[in-house]
Amino acid sequence: MSALLSLHNIRKSFAELTVLDDVSLALAGGEIVSLLGPSGCGKSTLLRIAAGLDRHYQGQLERNPLLDFGASSGIGVVFQEPRLMPWLNVAENIGFVDGHKADARWVRQLLRDVGLEGRGDALPKQLSGGMAQRVAIARGLYGKPQVLLLDEPFSAVDAFTRMKLQDLVTELAAQYDISVLLVTHDLDEAVYLSDRVLILGGQPSRIVSELHVPVPRPRDRRAAELALLKGQALTALYQQPY
Ligand SMILES: Nc1ncnc2c1ncn2[C@@H]1O[C@H](COP(=O)(O)OP(=O)(O)OP(=O)(O)O)[C@@H](O)[C@H]1O
Ligand SMILES: [Mg+2]
Repeated sequence: MSALLSLHNIRKSFAELTVLDDVSLALAGGEIVSLLGPSGCGKSTLLRIAAGLDRHYQGQLERNPLLDFGASSGIGVVFQEPRLMPWLNVAENIGFVDGHKADARWVRQLLRDVGLEGRGDALPKQLSGGMAQRVAIARGLYGKPQVLLLDEPFSAVDAFTRMKLQDLVTELAAQYDISVLLVTHDLDEAVYLSDRVLILGGQPSRIVSELHVPVPRPRDRRAAELALLKGQALTALYQQPY
């Protein structure tokens, strides 16, 4: 199957600083791909370009025509922090793009999916960090995207919640047939979740390594195969200057 979303030879600069140079990647239907690299290497910048939120770059962003359906662009985004509207309740935050016309039944289903059934009336300040992230994931899914772009979505939560949220994302991706591009700092997370891990490095950054994770799901976090692949990713990362 041809890619749902592809980036070709992306080069991005902020004034004098060139952050990304000649970065190409493609996301196929049903695939989970992680983007790994040191802080400041341009992961969020690349994700914003993929999401269509930044149009000031060289190179091409190609979206499969299959993605452009209905009101939604076919792409959902979950940012590095939940970014909930504090004056709107949980349900209103999830259906935010549709305002008063939000599909209440779909919002209720998403609340169930992320384990927040009955919490639609709560305000963001009444939520824990992990709950707020789950609301952000539900909001990312509200537009029924075929592609979900996640920028370190689990970075603000404890290790146990993080594992639960990781499993939630893989389950929802399988349930709704969504391709995922996940930005992360976390090697274990990248290897556990992904079909492929792309490692950014260099100055400016480019993709320096690509790792395939041909391990069937559901996966066991303790599997020796995953540990071996993690070792290979570590070797690639250590070769990068910080
Ligand atoms: N709007 C901006 N204006 C100027 N420079 C920027 C802007 N956004 C990002 N940068 C610079 O681009 C580089 C990459 O930033 P980016 O946020 O993409 O990194 P990152 O890999 O996501 O880092 P982290 O892992 O810490 O989130 C950094 O040097 C940053 O200072
Ligand atoms: Mg970032």
